[in-house]
Amino acid sequence: MRTLPIFIILLGIITINSCSKDPETDSDDQTKMFTDNDVLEEIRNNTLFFYQGDTATLSAAGNSPHGTFKLLFNQTALDALGADGKLAAGDTFPTGSLVVKDVIRNGNTSFYAAMWKQPSAENANEDWLWYEAFLDGSLLVSIDAKGNGCIGCHRANTNRDFVNSFDLH
Ligand code: HEC
Repeated sequence: MRTLPIFIILLGIITINSCSKDPETDSDDQTKMFTDNDVLEEIRNNTLFFYQGDTATLSAAGNSPHGTFKLLFNQTALDALGADGKLAAGDTFPTGSLVVKDVIRNGNTSFYAAMWKQPSAENANEDWLWYEAFLDGSLLVSIDAKGNGCIGCHRANTNRDFVNSFDLH
């Protein structure tokens, strides 16, 4: 009967092991993977709302490299804005907020520049996914670049959660 205690100990080890693999306690499960296509679909499949309800094309301001554009928000982002259509200084956007710049060339949208707030995304930087692509999804800047080439400028507006337009337009 000397095998019985050993069996019980083994059973205990197996139980402890399987408990420690509980997904809720596994920190790896806190990060999510998003793809460039996820961003494209988010842009395409959402109702987007114009900045301050104005459909006019805006001219690039400040040090903007983006050219003329229209600025749009999904419902989640819109809900965070005040009556003046701006994010209050010091405030932050909630997870899922999407800010899209339709960059206009010759009267039409030429490409999208987008910020999608996904703090738990592995490829997020400063809690945002940073993306630029033509309308068919051909990439200018992948989210896997983690905002390299974007954040340098957008950091000027940390008090508005990295969104520049509220102080310029
Ligand atoms: C040289 C500075 C600079 C760089 C680099 C830059 N941006 Fe911007 N961005 C701006 C400015 C300034 C605005 C404000 C609107 C305007 O007048 O263009 C802006 C606006 C935006 C907006 C609309 C929301 C907002 O902040 O007003 C998005 C989305 C955006 N940029 C995405 C990107 C992405 C993605 C990249 C990198 C691929 C990037 N930007 C690189 C300066 C920059």
